[in-house]
Amino acid sequence: TDYTLNVDPAHQGPAIDDTLYGVFFEDINRAADGGLYAEQVQNRSFEYDRADNASYTPLTSWDTTGSAKVVNDDGRLNARNRNYLSVDGGSSVTNSGYGTGIAVRKGERYDFSVWARTGEAAGAPLTLTLRDSSGELAAARRVTARGGWAKYTATFTASRTSATGRLTVASGAPVALDMISLFPRDTYKGRANGMRKDLAEKIAALDPGFVRFPGGCLVNTGSHEGYDEASGYQRRRSYQWKDTIGPVEERATNANFWGYNQSYGLGYYEYFQFAEDIGAMPLPVVPALVTGCGENKVTDDPALLKRHVQDTLDLIEFANGPVTSEWGRKRAAMGHPKPFHLTHLEVGNEENLPDAFFARFKEFRAAIEAKYPDVTVISNSGPDDSGTIFDRAWQLNRDAKVDMVDEHYYNSPQWFLENNERYDSYDRNGPKVFLGEYASQDNRFGNALSEAAYMTGLERNADVVKLASYAPLLARTDSVQWRPDMIWFDGQRSWGSANYEVQKLFMNNAGDRVVPSTASGTPATTAPITGAIGLSTWATSAAYDDVTVTGADGKTLLSDDFSNGDGKWTKAAGRGTWQVEDGAYVQSDAAAENTLVTAGDPGWQNYDLHVKATKKSG
Ligand code: AHR
Repeated sequence: TDYTLNVDPAHQGPAIDDTLYGVFFEDINRAADGGLYAEQVQNRSFEYDRADNASYTPLTSWDTTGSAKVVNDDGRLNARNRNYLSVDGGSSVTNSGYGTGIAVRKGERYDFSVWARTGEAAGAPLTLTLRDSSGELAAARRVTARGGWAKYTATFTASRTSATGRLTVASGAPVALDMISLFPRDTYKGRANGMRKDLAEKIAALDPGFVRFPGGCLVNTGSHEGYDEASGYQRRRSYQWKDTIGPVEERATNANFWGYNQSYGLGYYEYFQFAEDIGAMPLPVVPALVTGCGENKVTDDPALLKRHVQDTLDLIEFANGPVTSEWGRKRAAMGHPKPFHLTHLEVGNEENLPDAFFARFKEFRAAIEAKYPDVTVISNSGPDDSGTIFDRAWQLNRDAKVDMVDEHYYNSPQWFLENNERYDSYDRNGPKVFLGEYASQDNRFGNALSEAAYMTGLERNADVVKLASYAPLLARTDSVQWRPDMIWFDGQRSWGSANYEVQKLFMNNAGDRVVPSTASGTPATTAPITGAIGLSTWATSAAYDDVTVTGADGKTLLSDDFSNGDGKWTKAAGRGTWQVEDGAYVQSDAAAENTLVTAGDPGWQNYDLHVKATKKSG
């Protein structure tokens, strides 16, 4: 079939900003602790609590032998790190890491550290071992703790690769222990307290224009009260950035909206540093004192609101202020005297009460504009792509001439195909759009294709849509609160979804300017199709006869003539997961019929599938 694309170079469409496409990072699906944050020890400071997760205790992910108990008294490491472990001589504690265990690679180095105190007692010899069920993973190390709280370090070199490691600290004498930590030496860009390299590299390979962080529902849910040093934790606090900077042992951990604990080891300094390292604009989100994500709680406390507004001004000073300023000095003390160049900041996330949200948003905006007129303050439009909340929020944003409004939607691939023209009719003189979260509800090829089609509509409207980020970014396979996700990983491996490949393709090939074009003709439906196609849509549509998918070797992988009317593939092999080629799998099980996924790090774009379909007659 003839298909004609008419490109009109004489007419110029809108310019496409370098920052149009970016990423949205939230600690969901263990994206931070157990994920991008390279720490291997889970619950390193014994602060896990029932408020984080009903199954947690301060000894979650630890096993003890002999006499070892968690203590919360005046002998603690500091006021923000309440619990520590009191161990008798001849006792040991063993950490099982995240998921299947501590992951090490043969030949690589791992930096151990612990804070310990023996007080007046004689020194405590600590033996450190790294093992899995097959035996030693590295030669044991020894350090001797003595006197008041101090940090002790040692380095392991892994003799084998394993994803089921256990770290044991055994003491020959009574000792108090806290912040037991194990980091790979080889973090992204070699940063201390750094990022897991393979995940950071996959994010960097996207070439994102911005990083929106740290959430999401994570940011604005929970109590907006701060941490109280006198009485201990205010558990389930909203994300308050000042909790997350400074020495890691002084960061008060917090419950995570997504059902686990946040160590805050990956905090605001690390987010800014990471954004700089990957050449992306940092875009933080602060809570607006109205919760969203099903909580719908309004905090009516002018003094607290004033404190949060001041915290936000302090955040801008932390990012951009001179080293002589109060917060700029703290940034310099952490190792970055130069500014982080913050230009955009978002207040709030998906509030369902637009009027209550907006009353508070205006306070933030007025204070920021008065002190930092060059910073763009971003508002939002609630959790939907349309409806009463959305309309009201947009009306408030428009009336107040807000610079930019964040929209979020998770819809079907069909919706994305049918709404390509969504932004064609947006007011060119109204607020700009930040499409802060979107995804087409699965990681199948068809979903990725529908997102790619939709992104052409974003680019066509690049004068209105200024920023866009797929969500969520990361998912650890053994801790999934939300799917689909762009990048998947376990303790040792990571792989991009089809959706990741689409994001990467668009981010790495964004044009400078839209050139208007029109197309005519009817796409062929009977010709063989190669590459990334909408398998899942086709499988259930029953609109086609005789569909077959063959691998590069010509072997039939899937086929269906749809004659039995169940709209499902007949597999060339039995149920379950079977390997097709070099780390790529076609997966089929009862829960996810006909899902084409990849595992390991196969780079599925090199995987050549051939699909042949005949349109049903009539
Ligand atoms: O991306 C997952 C969640 O979706 C975000 O936390 C929230 O903003 C949205 O509801």
